[in-house]
Amino acid sequence: MARKRVAILISGRGSNMVALIEAAKDSRYPAGIMLVISNEPDAEGLKRAAAAGIRTAVVDHRPFGKDRAAFERALQDVLQAHQIELVCLAGFMRLLTPWFVRQWDARLLNIHPALLPAFKGLDTHARALAASVKEHGATVHFVVPEMDSGPIIAQAAVPVHRGDTEAALAARVLEVEHRIYPEALRLVAEGRVQIAGGRCLIDGNPVPLPSS
Ligand code: GRF
Repeated sequence: MARKRVAILISGRGSNMVALIEAAKDSRYPAGIMLVISNEPDAEGLKRAAAAGIRTAVVDHRPFGKDRAAFERALQDVLQAHQIELVCLAGFMRLLTPWFVRQWDARLLNIHPALLPAFKGLDTHARALAASVKEHGATVHFVVPEMDSGPIIAQAAVPVHRGDTEAALAARVLEVEHRIYPEALRLVAEGRVQIAGGRCLIDGNPVPLPSS
């Protein structure tokens, strides 16, 4: 089966992007990373992608001002020019409009550093510590117009230790992010994920509970 053509959208350091690129180096992996796009011209991840031999593009949001639709049309043009089939958000710090999300219905993935539906939004690690939760983690999900709310494809949990700093907890979560994002993309690229009633089924079964 032909490998799915994937683009990764980033804004920053791109460690999840690197995890996806590494996974896709294996010719048996069902997806190929064709393109990395950043809205930040100086994103560290752009250099890491280029060093890995991946084509990069910058679609800077600033020249578009408040015109999100125009920014997204520019993004969409680049994605179409490269015949992209699946899009992975990996630390992409722009909210996407319902128009863009609809273009990529069930083909747009995101990774969020929390066990959704807990801790949607930013500063998840600080909020998890403040809430004294015992477990925290990461979620890969399909993107829907409502932020951090789409059907869950994969989750992994990590313990929260007494005395954890935000940085220590973030590092523990990041490690599982780098594992589950390639796993989730594999499942989607292999066509094993269906959405039924707003939830994902994998090979017809409910998504397993968060592994650790
Ligand atoms: C990750 O924690 C990811 O879950 C969140 O943004 C961060 C991006 O990190 N969406 P990186 O750029 O992949 O290193």
